[in-house]
Amino acid sequence: MLDWYEYWHTTLDTSNAPFWKWFVGGKINASYNCVDRHLKKNKNKTAIHFVPEPENEAIQHVTYQELFVRVNEFAALLKDFVGVKKGDVVTFHLPMVAELPISMLACARLGVIHSEVFGGFTGGACATRMEDSNSRVLVTIDGYYRNGRFIDHKKNADEAVKAAEEMGLKVEKVLIWERYPGKYSSESPLVEGRDYIINDLLKDYRGKRVDPVPVAAEDPLFLMYTSGTTGKPKGVQHSTGGYLAYVTGTSKYIQDIHPEDVYWCMADIGWITGHSYIVYGPLALCASSVIYEGVPTYPDAGRPWRIAEELDVNIFHTAPTTIRGLRKVGPDEPQKYNYHFKHMTTVGEPIEPEVWKWYYEVVGKKEAIICDTWWQTETGGFLCSTVPAITPMRPGSAGPGVPGIHPVVYDDDGNEIPPGSGRAGNVCIRNPWPGLMQTIWGNPDRYVNDYFARYCKDKNSKDWRDWPYFSNDGGVQSADGYIRILGRVDDVINVSGHRLGTKEIESAALTVEEVAESAVVPVADDLKGRVPDLYVSLKPGYEPSEEIAKRVSDAVSEIIGKIAKPRKVWIVPDMPKTRSGKIMRRVLGAISNGKDVGDVTTLANGEVIPEIQKIVQGK
Ligand code: PRX
Repeated sequence: MLDWYEYWHTTLDTSNAPFWKWFVGGKINASYNCVDRHLKKNKNKTAIHFVPEPENEAIQHVTYQELFVRVNEFAALLKDFVGVKKGDVVTFHLPMVAELPISMLACARLGVIHSEVFGGFTGGACATRMEDSNSRVLVTIDGYYRNGRFIDHKKNADEAVKAAEEMGLKVEKVLIWERYPGKYSSESPLVEGRDYIINDLLKDYRGKRVDPVPVAAEDPLFLMYTSGTTGKPKGVQHSTGGYLAYVTGTSKYIQDIHPEDVYWCMADIGWITGHSYIVYGPLALCASSVIYEGVPTYPDAGRPWRIAEELDVNIFHTAPTTIRGLRKVGPDEPQKYNYHFKHMTTVGEPIEPEVWKWYYEVVGKKEAIICDTWWQTETGGFLCSTVPAITPMRPGSAGPGVPGIHPVVYDDDGNEIPPGSGRAGNVCIRNPWPGLMQTIWGNPDRYVNDYFARYCKDKNSKDWRDWPYFSNDGGVQSADGYIRILGRVDDVINVSGHRLGTKEIESAALTVEEVAESAVVPVADDLKGRVPDLYVSLKPGYEPSEEIAKRVSDAVSEIIGKIAKPRKVWIVPDMPKTRSGKIMRRVLGAISNGKDVGDVTTLANGEVIPEIQKIVQGK
């Protein structure tokens, strides 16, 4: 499915287990595969339909030819004006605009590694990621629309540069796209010698072409930071050849994407779903991919279906949290519009059978099959899903491993839990696959420890059979191999399908002067799946107040981003602790969810529990 400059000599090299190498000896370029090679037959075809949030703004249809021109011109600018070269890391802090895939493909053309930070994150969160990857160039935009408001985004870049400097990293250049080319729409002034308007600079690069740089299959394509169990997000590093092969193959065989399809994944390119299944997979297959700038319910819950009707979208992809939201505010909207899907994907969280039913009957008009795809930032592409027209759908269950993926469920002692036993365990994948990350940027130990150490049978073994991949998800496998995902078994909370590390939120809370200790627990939520409840205790001499609680909540939004904002900040006299001083999050979780706290006899300070219950449950 891909074009290679040189074919590989070794498909899989396992000699440095578990750092698998795929397609060794192969030379390839991702930008060439997503753009250039389509020109001969399809240069007039739309590659990207950019749908602005304001409904009175025209949709932009970027053809493959136009994508080719824009990617080349920006690549030339990056190469000659910025001076980046193969192996450098360039950070993007971009929202959902066509300039994001253009920037990604321009980097890929040069062998430059891109690292996109979700647009809704703060400048500070962007800085942490820049510092970790030693990235000295930031690509951003003046502003964009979100929920009817024009958001001034450039000011986040100023914050990011300042915060990065405090961490010891000097950001050399900030490149700014204009949401309306020719008109700078931010209040934030440009810093001389640092900030440059891309749309101005591009005038000097008109007509410039840059040959795609053939890179080794194993050269990194991008970094995607994600939350784990420590306070510091990890830079998941994806390869060029293996990753591109995997997302292209799964886009075709699981999502049934063909060049004649109009495909819409309503997710954000700031997350892995968008990288794999808005940009690289669909464009490698020469599909038309829709990029929608705004929120699904703006200006009303009919918006997605009007877009689907207008563009004649026939493959649709989104997350359960979005489906739940649209079902709540506009249960009858889909039937008002004349669109027809052949295929619908869901991703990111378990989908409740009731919600699945609405998706199938109302959104899909009983004409579309649904693939519930389970996977992770680290895995590059789908792990479990049914295959359209081959394996039957089963609401609430992702499905068996996709072709080439062999899941297994282990108990805590490393025994295999037989399929059909009804017992839950830790979901693992037995075998390596090409989409799996290569490592954690700058932290290979974390790669081994977080994903392989748990169930490795022999640390000296070079045999992949001894190194199952541990997903950190719990699940149950049915007799016929379908996996039902129950959720994370580590300190990660999945809020609206977005991964948040509890430690990141807890560290943010600790920046408030009065706070002594903090603990985050997930609370079930009808729309978002899970939301964080934040417990804090104060240093001696401070009295609890609404004002402190608000400052704690604001600190979390300001340091991480609004998506991490706690449902509630509870100021408690003390945290429930074990005798060794560990905070018992399980007990706090039970209280927040109105459940029985279970056995608490081993606690060092059991007397605090009724006090906390009184604060939270009012009884
Ligand atoms: O807990 C699983 C959940 O989302 C986590 C991965 O999050 P992230 O790396 O942000 O990637 C999201 C997009 C792939 C997983 O560990 N998850 C993902 N897909 C599903 C899911 N849970 C249940 N069903 C799914 N289909």
